[in-house]
Formats: sequence, C-alpha cells, structure tokens
Amino acid sequence: MTIQRTLTIIKPDAVGKNAVGEIIHRFELAGFKIVAMRMERLKKDRAEGFYHVHSDKPFFDELVEFMTSGPCVPMVLEKENAIEDLRALIGVTDSKKAATGTIRQNFGTDIQCNAVHASDSVENARFEVNYFFPDIKV
Ligand code: CMP
Repeated sequence: MTIQRTLTIIKPDAVGKNAVGEIIHRFELAGFKIVAMRMERLKKDRAEGFYHVHSDKPFFDELVEFMTSGPCVPMVLEKENAIEDLRALIGVTDSKKAATGTIRQNFGTDIQCNAVHASDSVENARFEVNYFFPDIKV
C-alpha cells in the first residue's frame, strides 16, 4: 500500500458548530498526518473554481453560497491509502445516510451541509491539494 496525500476541507457548517478540533482529532486518531492546514473564508470565485466539476449541477449555486458563508479549514492529510480511508472515515455525501460513527453522520446535517469534503481520486487529490496548497507535492 502506498503513502498518499489527500485534501480535506472542514466546511463552514462544522466550523460554525465549533467542531474543528474534534474533527481534526478524529483524523489524527485514524492515523492521518497533517501536512498543511489553514483557516480561510472562500471568495465566490475560489469556491466556484474548486467545485468546477459540479458547475452544471442544479445544486451548484447553493453549494457556492454555502461554502462562502463562513470560514472553512482546508487541510492536506497523509497516510497509507489516504484517499479511500478518509472517505470511509467521513461517510457518504448525504449526512442523513452516512454510517453510524462517521464524521458526516456526527457533524453534518444533510446532503449539502455535510461537515467535510474529501478528494475522491488520485487525480482529484492532485488538483485539489494544488488548488489550496500549491507548494505541497502530491
Ligand atoms: P462534497 O463531497 O464537498 O462534493 C460536492 C458537494 O456538493 C457535496 O459535498 C455537498 O456539500 C454538495 N451537494 C449539495 N447537493 C448535492 C447533491 N444532490 N449531490 C451531491 N452533492 C451535493
């Protein structure tokens, strides 16, 4: 199994719930190393650029509004099999359907306000890490 890096974002809903520390603790307990991290309030064009693959989806405008509604915490995490393992730890997109004990089940509300984002492939991890942390190698 190879060491991978992946991008996660603790989203504005989770930041608003004071859940940043608890979510980071979950990442660390699961064996992820924090390679980079900062708090940032996304501007509209930054959120649109990050989610450009969803620009034709009906939820795009609401998604951008949500992601710009308050500060978020983008982070680069590292671990063996990081991409798949992080997605298992956070649970499926819809917080209402996420498995018991997952981060989205514990801290998210619905399909949009789902507490965290995580890269879903090696290719997207490369784009997403570079989008927020151009100095970090993937
Ligand atoms: P994320 O994993 O960051 O990827 C795209 C985001 O769009 C998703 O989490 C949700 O926050 C948001 N979203 C809102 N509605 C939907 C939907 N119907 N399907 C998928 N994602 C949605």
